[in-house]
Amino acid sequence: MPPSTQSADPHRSDVPDPSAASAGGDPSSRRTGPEHAGPVRPSADRPEPGSAASNSAVPDRAASERTEPDRPDPRPGSQRPSSQRGDPASVDPGALGPDRLEQVRLQASAAIATAGDLDELAALRTLHLDGRGAPLALARRALGALPPPERAEAGRRHNAATAAIRAAYEARLAELTAERDARVLVEERVDVTLPGTRRPLGARHPLSALSDHLVDVFVAMGYEVAEGPEAEHDWFNFEALNLGPDHPARSSHDTLYVDPVGSGLLLRTHTSPVQIRTLLSRPLPVYVVCPGRTYRNDAVDATHSPVFGQLEGLAVDEGITMADLRGTLEVFAQALFGSGLATRLRPSYFPFTEPSAELDVACFACRGEPARQPCRVCSDEGWIEVGGCGMVDPNVLVACGVDPARYSGFAFGMGLERAAMIRHDVHEIRDFVDGDVRFGLSFGTGN
Ligand code: DAH
Repeated sequence: MPPSTQSADPHRSDVPDPSAASAGGDPSSRRTGPEHAGPVRPSADRPEPGSAASNSAVPDRAASERTEPDRPDPRPGSQRPSSQRGDPASVDPGALGPDRLEQVRLQASAAIATAGDLDELAALRTLHLDGRGAPLALARRALGALPPPERAEAGRRHNAATAAIRAAYEARLAELTAERDARVLVEERVDVTLPGTRRPLGARHPLSALSDHLVDVFVAMGYEVAEGPEAEHDWFNFEALNLGPDHPARSSHDTLYVDPVGSGLLLRTHTSPVQIRTLLSRPLPVYVVCPGRTYRNDAVDATHSPVFGQLEGLAVDEGITMADLRGTLEVFAQALFGSGLATRLRPSYFPFTEPSAELDVACFACRGEPARQPCRVCSDEGWIEVGGCGMVDPNVLVACGVDPARYSGFAFGMGLERAAMIRHDVHEIRDFVDGDVRFGLSFGTGN
């Protein structure tokens, strides 16, 4: 019986149909072939006139398919020699003979055993095992051409050869994978004992640290913390504090005003407006400490900055006297500068306190001793002005709706930079705003 390669799909003439093979086909019945290449050639395959396929509006698909197999297939890998294309001539039952299969097995196993890396091995697998052009695949195609008894025997041989090649492949795969893993382990080795990249933590700003420290001192005495806005209204910043529109002390504040003109807004020149906000919003008695940022149109020099910090204190209660002020500021001064430095209250004037005083502390640099002078810190004064204080002016209490006949109080205010400079022996106020982390770190406030 002549072998048949009739295929269900003419495009796939290289894939034999095993069922058709044994059915016994007549080569003359094949629908593909040069004799069908011409579209107008009379053929038994042409549809009868009047059939659907003969309608000119319907493409004659069968006709075009008939011509396809003889055209070169442009797909990569499709330009195999005719012996591999599966046409009848390429089906070679001899390929299933024991010697031929053994030869295939030996060749494949030898090639696979010497594969240099996993990529090469993958290519060899296609070439010898899985690929449509692999000798094994070609041999398998010939199975159908054998009579059943021989076919079974040949099939077993074919299976054995396939299994042997597959085993060779698996063995080499295991070797190459192990080699690759070992290599990657070495190449990508990480020394976990090496130190990591540490980010320096920086430091707390010395003014923040000082402010917190002083606030703690007052909180320990029973004070609460109060805050107010930095863009403040004229009434809180001046008027309610007994600084009317024409008050001469206004000019000393070098105020920065906020647009638009007439809004009444300004950058607060001190933290004293928080006194007003506190008295208006909190029930009496009040004991508050108010840290915050303040602004003045000051030229910058070693001791002046247009932006600076203040710390305000206010106590309003029944029966408050100057003795309470004195005692409180002594605790404060000692917490700030230590017990070794003397303090004094020097008569002064502030519109919102009556009487008023300046709190002075002995100069840390010269302590007033002529032998240590000239002193650039205190200009040979021997004392450093720390802040202002006094008894709350009754006008301020009245402005806030507090009865001065029943309540009295004291207030104080100080500049944070000045205190920090005294405390830490800093001679240049600009160091606080330069942002050099070494400056901050030198205060030991890195946490
Ligand atoms: N506000 C004043 C200033 O900035 C400081 C001050 C003085 C505050 C006396 C007070 C005080 O509370 O009683 O110069």
